[in-house]
Amino acid sequence: DIGAIADSEKVAVYLVGGMVRDLLLGLPNVDLDLVVEGNGIAFGTKLAKELTGRIYCHEKFGTANLFLNNGLKIDIATARTEYYEFPAALPTVENGSLKQDLYRRDFTINAMAIGLNHHNWGQLIDFFCGCSDLRRKLIRILYNLSFVEDPTRIIRSIRFEKRYDFTIEEDTLRFAQKAIEQNFLERVSANRLKEEFVLILKEKNMIAIFKRLKEMDIWSRILPELELTPGILHFLEHVTEDSSQLTSLLGPVDPGLLTLLLLCHQADEKRVAANIERFQWSKKYNLVLMKTAHEKKKIHAMLQGKDVPISKIDLLFRDLSNETILYFYIVSPDPEQKKIINYLRLRKERIPVVSGKDLKMLGIKPGPVYREILEMLRTARLDGIVQSRAEEISLIK
Ligand code: CTP
Repeated sequence: DIGAIADSEKVAVYLVGGMVRDLLLGLPNVDLDLVVEGNGIAFGTKLAKELTGRIYCHEKFGTANLFLNNGLKIDIATARTEYYEFPAALPTVENGSLKQDLYRRDFTINAMAIGLNHHNWGQLIDFFCGCSDLRRKLIRILYNLSFVEDPTRIIRSIRFEKRYDFTIEEDTLRFAQKAIEQNFLERVSANRLKEEFVLILKEKNMIAIFKRLKEMDIWSRILPELELTPGILHFLEHVTEDSSQLTSLLGPVDPGLLTLLLLCHQADEKRVAANIERFQWSKKYNLVLMKTAHEKKKIHAMLQGKDVPISKIDLLFRDLSNETILYFYIVSPDPEQKKIINYLRLRKERIPVVSGKDLKMLGIKPGPVYREILEMLRTARLDGIVQSRAEEISLIK
């Protein structure tokens, strides 16, 4: 085990960070963070060999990431003191002790360690009263400049506050507010802000975090393009009950992408494009967000139309992602919601049975005409003009 390897390598190894916090809270956590007093990279290399796995080292930072063959991921750091060359930059590393390493961390509840060597196996090391803050349900920084050195911690404090239903301790809150007012968040790179935002999208209490970000005047600093209106919050709050009516018809939906679509609800194409430009979401996300913004007006106009044939709806809807369809459903008034449901039902039921193979058997020469015929059959089926194989064939003839 890790402790035996640490002893044989003559280094002190500690479990630190989120896993210690969650262990004390009795919550599951699978990310193993280790701090090594001594050579972290050498220890990591040994560990990777003994436990069989791959290792990726960052010599400059004295850190290593281990991916064990059993699926476990272990992050290893060399005990260090970090000093910051200028605010919001990556830390520069020099050797130091466990206490200093823990002191440079974000919050007291994340700055505890558990000994893993034989002599102190399982022993809690709590220099900064993290355990007491856990009991008192407080998020507290360790030193006054914490938010200035790493303004993303302002966002993290809110994420933890809402995840555990804790409170941001009074002085900590004041330091956060001051750093916000002094525009420290604006110094953070778009990529780091995006990473923080993606973590929020994964939180169960995402909406409460959104509200708090807005309340603390943070939202507009990290997502200036996407206004968080009461209307959008209302949509977000009703996503689950709205989706339940659609999921069986629709198939899988990526909740993160759906949230982004809803956040883009009030934004015009230009704003959505600006957000994509800054944050560089995944290729799929970028495409879906842009396409939805682009087609929004057309789709609403079509859904509002009277007696629109199903095939017409299909022309606009067939290339839309599940998330986009669900988005339109959520933001539409009742009669339009009914049209979307009806369309999705018919799209599933009314599928032509005649295939390319049948066309060949009918003696039609393969070529672009196949596509045209199959397309015509789809339209005829969707609009209820044909209802059987025989009718399909007679339509072709
Ligand atoms: N940390 C920090 N400052 C940051 C990010 C992280 O001091 N801006 C420290 C904290 O001690 C944290 C540890 O690095 O516990 C690991 O970071 P991360 O994996 O992001 O946080 P977790 O606490 O594990 O949170 P989560 O449960 O969300 O994974």
